[in-house]
Amino acid sequence: MTELEYLSVEKENEIAIVAIDRQGKLNALNYKMLQELEGVFTDLSQDENLRGVILIGRGNKSFVAGADIEELADLNRQSGRSQSGEGQRVFTLIENFRTPVLAAVNGYALGGGCELALACHLRVASKNAKFGFPEVGLGIIPGFGGTVRLSRVVGFGRAIEMILTGNMITADRAEHFGLVSAVFEPDELLSRSKDFLGSITRHSPQAIQKAIQSLYFAQDSRAIESFIMENDLFGQLTGTEDMKEGVGAFLEKRKPVFKGV
Ligand code: COA
Repeated sequence: MTELEYLSVEKENEIAIVAIDRQGKLNALNYKMLQELEGVFTDLSQDENLRGVILIGRGNKSFVAGADIEELADLNRQSGRSQSGEGQRVFTLIENFRTPVLAAVNGYALGGGCELALACHLRVASKNAKFGFPEVGLGIIPGFGGTVRLSRVVGFGRAIEMILTGNMITADRAEHFGLVSAVFEPDELLSRSKDFLGSITRHSPQAIQKAIQSLYFAQDSRAIESFIMENDLFGQLTGTEDMKEGVGAFLEKRKPVFKGV
């Protein structure tokens, strides 16, 4: 992949920390950054030892303050469709990522930034985080999956209110909405995010992956199909080494050590 200008990736044990760094523009998401996100998540998907990803914005002002408005200014009907399609595709790649992806939101998560956080499986925030969809004030709508994903997370009533008013909400309100799972002090955001992700990655990687798969499948399918999918995934896990380890460890009153097989 091409050299990274706006992203950096650090590996810490079995976790990757992907940091967005375009602080002069409040980490606004331009086309190059979108391509870098695709490249980074594609590369990370090859790492078989990886158990989770944290996506964070550098600096304490912003996670991502939306799509780059300077780039938006040049779009026409055709290029607008194409840009929205690219954003939807890359964000769906993140949603389909094999391990849990946690957005750690520090400062602004606006427009495309909020959509990026929604494409992650889970979100936590620092006390100074602000979430919102200012698009209607620019004469557009969220186009990177926001009108689809927001309702799933916060419910239709709150989603339509956020998108039609364009108002920002605080971290506490976002927690109340279920948009974030927890709110931390700004200087503890990364360490607490690691702990939070650790409370997931200590479990069987296969079970976590299939739980994510089943939960997302159920969002888009009728109950009857979702039960079939759940049943199939459950069957795939039964008898695996991880299951034997998990059940065995419980019976032997010790902590399990999962190998992901
Ligand atoms: N796209 C491009 N540039 C952006 C940006 C965006 N989405 N958000 C912020 N910036 C740039 C500003 O233009 C400014 O650049 P400059 O210093 O070269 O002029 C820099 O980031 C700092 O932003 P500034 O507006 O001065 O900071 P602030 O603290 O006064 O305000 C915000 C913060 C987030 C309220 C304000 O920047 C804002 O409203 N941004 C746009 C949010 C938005 O509509 N996002 C959705 C796009 S679809």
